[in-house]
Amino acid sequence: MADRVYNFSPGPATLPVEVLEQAAKDVVNFKETGIGLIEMSHRSKEFMAVAENTEKLLRELMGIPANYKVLFLQGGASSQFFMIPMNLLGDGKKATYLNTGTWSKKAIKEARLFGDIDVAFSSEDQTFNRVPTQDEYTVAPDSEYFYFVSNNTIYGTQFPKFPETDSILISDMSSDILSRKIDVSKFGIIFAGAQKNMGPSGVTIVIIRDDLLDRTPAGTPTMLTYKTHADKGSMFNTPPCFPIYAVGEVLKWLKKQGGVEAIETRNVEKATLLYDFIDSTDYYRGHAEKSSRSFMNIPFNLPNSDLEAKFIAEAAELGLNGLKGHRSIGGCRASIYNAFPREGVVKLVEFMKNFESANQG
Ligand SMILES: Cc1ncc(COP(=O)(O)O)c(C=O)c1O
Repeated sequence: MADRVYNFSPGPATLPVEVLEQAAKDVVNFKETGIGLIEMSHRSKEFMAVAENTEKLLRELMGIPANYKVLFLQGGASSQFFMIPMNLLGDGKKATYLNTGTWSKKAIKEARLFGDIDVAFSSEDQTFNRVPTQDEYTVAPDSEYFYFVSNNTIYGTQFPKFPETDSILISDMSSDILSRKIDVSKFGIIFAGAQKNMGPSGVTIVIIRDDLLDRTPAGTPTMLTYKTHADKGSMFNTPPCFPIYAVGEVLKWLKKQGGVEAIETRNVEKATLLYDFIDSTDYYRGHAEKSSRSFMNIPFNLPNSDLEAKFIAEAAELGLNGLKGHRSIGGCRASIYNAFPREGVVKLVEFMKNFESANQG
């Protein structure tokens, strides 16, 4: 196997090597059955056990209460942008959204196809460099739900505290699920694409409070109705077998690391190493305001775009890959999800110091 590099990609992203190695074996011959995992019927007892185990571990690690269903869906996190309003709105019903980045903007656009959407806050005119505090917005009282993105992958902002609301709280946690301890019972729906903190792309996890399953307007297509999947344990049709398996392996790994609380401590430590360095020099500038900083994605700029291109190229030569910022804001971005090793951050900081001294004015 080629030497592995430090992969700062925003998603699909670094996964634990032990998970990749186990998966490589199981794809060829799953548990000595003589059948590869991806060749196996999704209704076989072996695969049913895999899916049950993934759900059980997720419930355990996140503390998901019994009155919530866990769904394994396809169509990416982006399909939740329309599935949520399609199932919960209709007939002039209203919802409130916070516009804190590209992914909330896309969700708002889709939601407007199904109802009356109130955007209670937007940081778009500040290039989405912060998330609001509770006193900066109000949730329309007749809202069916209140929607926000917990971590803004592109702009590197994250809600340090979740919004408090009497409305049904819905969150896109695609880029910070399982990275910090949360109280699931405060939410109506939490969803996340797997490809950052949980596994490969191809499965989207939806955690939904069961009373929300009965609100879907008549005429909604069967596959796009949450209840269809909830009633059939995500086996109404062929589920994304390999991603469900791989998420289960990542969850086993996470449990071995000490679970969400332990990984949260490490995530804070890793991000702090990088932020402390950025704050110690004027050469690098973080994109996000300090009070909104993400522990998962850290976008930053150098004095100019030529230096940024040079920085990214030289970093890659040293095995520090995937540092190019998203095309919407340019610059650089280090994504350091749960499985990203601390040594990679240490190496990045060391490189940043050297680059700065070698490339003045
Ligand atoms: C916060 C957030 N939401 C949604 C998405 C879209 O996910 P998908 O590509 O699975 O549709 C992304 C992708 O990066 C994301 O970061």
